[in-house]
Amino acid sequence: MTDDEVGQRTFPRAFRRTHIAIGSHRRTSGKEAGISLFVKRDDLLHPDIQGNKWRKLAPVLAKIKKTHPGGIITFGGPFSNHLQAVAAAGRVFDIPTFGIVRGKHADLSNPTLRSAWHDGMMLFPVSKQEYDDCKHRGEELISPEFPQYYILPEGGATNLAVESCTAIAQEIFSQLKQTKTQHSKPIFICVPAGTGCTAAGIVDGFKAKNGQVLIFPVVNKGFDTQTVLRLFDETRLRSQAKMAELERRFSIIRDYECGGFAKKHPPVLDFVRTFEAQTGILLDPVYTAKMMLGIFDMLAKGDFPPGSTVVAVHTGGLQGWAGFRERYG
Ligand SMILES: Cc1ncc(COP(=O)(O)O)c(C=O)c1O
Repeated sequence: MTDDEVGQRTFPRAFRRTHIAIGSHRRTSGKEAGISLFVKRDDLLHPDIQGNKWRKLAPVLAKIKKTHPGGIITFGGPFSNHLQAVAAAGRVFDIPTFGIVRGKHADLSNPTLRSAWHDGMMLFPVSKQEYDDCKHRGEELISPEFPQYYILPEGGATNLAVESCTAIAQEIFSQLKQTKTQHSKPIFICVPAGTGCTAAGIVDGFKAKNGQVLIFPVVNKGFDTQTVLRLFDETRLRSQAKMAELERRFSIIRDYECGGFAKKHPPVLDFVRTFEAQTGILLDPVYTAKMMLGIFDMLAKGDFPPGSTVVAVHTGGLQGWAGFRERYG
C-alpha cells in the first residue's frame, strides 16, 4: 500500500477540502488588538482516525502490510485516543490489531474500549507494572517471540510519526500565505502535548524567523525540553548547532494542565461550551480544551506581541468525550 493509496482510501473529498481551511478569529480591542487566531482543523482529517492520530499512523500503515503481516501490537490507557484510532485504522485498512490495556480488565462498558473491540482490536488488560514494562521495553519483550507484529509505542510516537507531523507546520505556513498574514510579524503555532511527538514534528517543520512553537503539556510532571529534543530522529545525526536551533524554536507553556491529565476542571468545561457557541468548534476535554483555554488566557494577559498570528492545532480526540462523560457524568 503506497502513501497515495492510503490517502485515497481514507480521505473522502470533503475531508481533504475542509482540513485545508483554517478559520480566523480576530480581536479588535484591548491588549489582544491586532492578533489573529487561527485554528488548524486537523480534527477534520478523518472521522475515526482523527487529528494527530491520522498524522502519526498514516506512514506506519503505508508500510506495515508488507513488513509485518501479523498486524499491530500497541499500548494505551483504558480511555486512550490512540487505542481507539489504531483499532479504527485496523478496520479501515484490514490490519489485525492488538491492544495492551492498562487495567485489571478490559471493561467493555467503557466507550473507548467498546469501540476498539467493535473495530476488531483484541484487548489484553495488564497490571500497571506489566504495562510500564511493555511501554518502556515493548519491542525487546515482545518482538523476539512475535517478529511478524509491528510494535507501535504508546501514543504512536515513532520517528516516522515525528517526520509526518512536520507537514502540519508546512501546511500552516502555506495556508497562512493565502491570508493577509504579514510574515514580518511573529507567528506562534500552539499544540497540546502528551508524548511530545506531534509537537516535535511541528518544531522540525517550523521555519518562521519570528515566533515559536508553543507546547502545552497535559501532564504536570515529567515533560520538559529534553522530552521534545529526544524525539528528533537520531538516525539523521543532527549536529549540536542544529539541535540548539531546534530548541530555540519552541517553548513549553506550563500552568494550563488544569488539575492534571484527564482530570475534570469546571472552568475548562465552561470554556469549551463558550468556545463552541462562539466558533462552532468542539474541543476535546483532555488536550485541545486546556491548550485553547491557555491561549485565551495568554491573549488576555497580553503575552503575545502586537500583530502576532497565533495558530492553534486542533489535534482531534473528540472520541474522548464519551469516556469523559462516563467518568464524570
Ligand atoms: C487529541 C490529542 N491531542 C494531542 C495529543 C498529544 O500528542 P503527542 O503524544 O504527540 O504529544 C494526543 C495524544 O496522543 C491526543 O489524543
